[in-house]
Amino acid sequence: MAPLLEAANTFGTPLYVYNLDMVQKRLSILSDLFGNRFGISYAIKANPNPTLLAALQAGLSTFDASSFAEVIAAIDAGMPAKQVTFSGPAKREAEIKGAIVAGVGELVVESLTEAKRASSIAKERGVNQNILVRINPLKLPRKFGASMGATASQFGIDEEDLARDLPIIRDYPNLNLIGFHIYSGTNCLVPEAIAENFAIFADIFRAAQEITGVKPKRLVFGSGFGIPYLPGEDALDHAALPALINPIIDDLLDGEAFNETKCNLELGRWLVGPAGWLLTRVISEKHSRGVEVRTCDAGFNAHLAACGMMGSVIRRNWDFENLSNAKGQTGRYMLTGPLCTSIDRLAMDIELPKVSIADVLSIASSGAYGYSASPRGFISHPEPREVVIENGQLRDATPPLARIAAELVL
Ligand SMILES: Cc1ncc(COP(=O)(O)O)c(C=O)c1O
Repeated sequence: MAPLLEAANTFGTPLYVYNLDMVQKRLSILSDLFGNRFGISYAIKANPNPTLLAALQAGLSTFDASSFAEVIAAIDAGMPAKQVTFSGPAKREAEIKGAIVAGVGELVVESLTEAKRASSIAKERGVNQNILVRINPLKLPRKFGASMGATASQFGIDEEDLARDLPIIRDYPNLNLIGFHIYSGTNCLVPEAIAENFAIFADIFRAAQEITGVKPKRLVFGSGFGIPYLPGEDALDHAALPALINPIIDDLLDGEAFNETKCNLELGRWLVGPAGWLLTRVISEKHSRGVEVRTCDAGFNAHLAACGMMGSVIRRNWDFENLSNAKGQTGRYMLTGPLCTSIDRLAMDIELPKVSIADVLSIASSGAYGYSASPRGFISHPEPREVVIENGQLRDATPPLARIAAELVL
């Protein structure tokens, strides 16, 4: 953990550290895992840090952007626009226009209204835009940490409406329907449940093909691959996945209708989550009614998810370490953030080696949905800075404006 402490001492806290060497290793494991069955699509929303995107870009099939700003981030990172997909349930007219003008490879259409809007914009621009239709399945197996489908949802065309809606979308002028997209659940640690979900996708893709008569060029499988967040949780046994998933893909592609199909595995957290830490420094300490309270310079403003506020039903302590005192005698602590609200709690009754003022604490599994998924403006505390470790070296990766703001308070 020496590089983490060095990072905190060099760049200040709160600080996000992303180990790009680890990210590249995970990307290469994933790229090799299923033979040539899948290209990898990285969902920028998981972590849009520009340095991280630039490092990932060369090893990916596509970036999936979910706003026009993310489309631009993808292109800025060096990705050709035709290797960018643009998903998201509320694309404004100007965003669709911007994406079409930028030349995004595939617009992921989430509703009939959106298809109609995209069609008239493409017509106005005199272009034919490739689209994928996102589908909201009826079923999601158990064991997924978060569900984005299998219920009433803003994401995609409901499976039971495909026969009615897909021909309408296929026939809209200036849209070129080239495939289908499903992302119905995420953060799953059970290989069998992921495979069961892929079998559901395969059946839906077959049905969508039959309804439209379109030979898909692209099918997107929202992976749902999870990562452990809590101490004691086991990592997803990714090595068990090919034996379960390869037969499903081979069976799907074994037919004339799918002989031009390229499949993409879309994901974010599995690639980058375990390669990131949030570092925070203890600012103040007190003994309050029998509880040792330590107040840190990061709270839910810096890491909403670690504070249990991003979809967790029960708040549980994430994996903390005291980097300044790794092996001392332990105590039990309430760790809070700097915000003026009692819900700003990083950890409750957590056992750590003695925690004192100025100690640096790390929160693991913070590489995805950390910095960008937190309400950083609340109470206007200094924003976290971001650094990367690349070839073993620490490097500032804070976008320029945020860097100037962070330097003002160092
Ligand atoms: C369309 C889409 N793709 C990919 C992802 C990435 O999910 P994860 O980071 O859990 O892999 C999400 C997450 O919300 C998503 O909505």
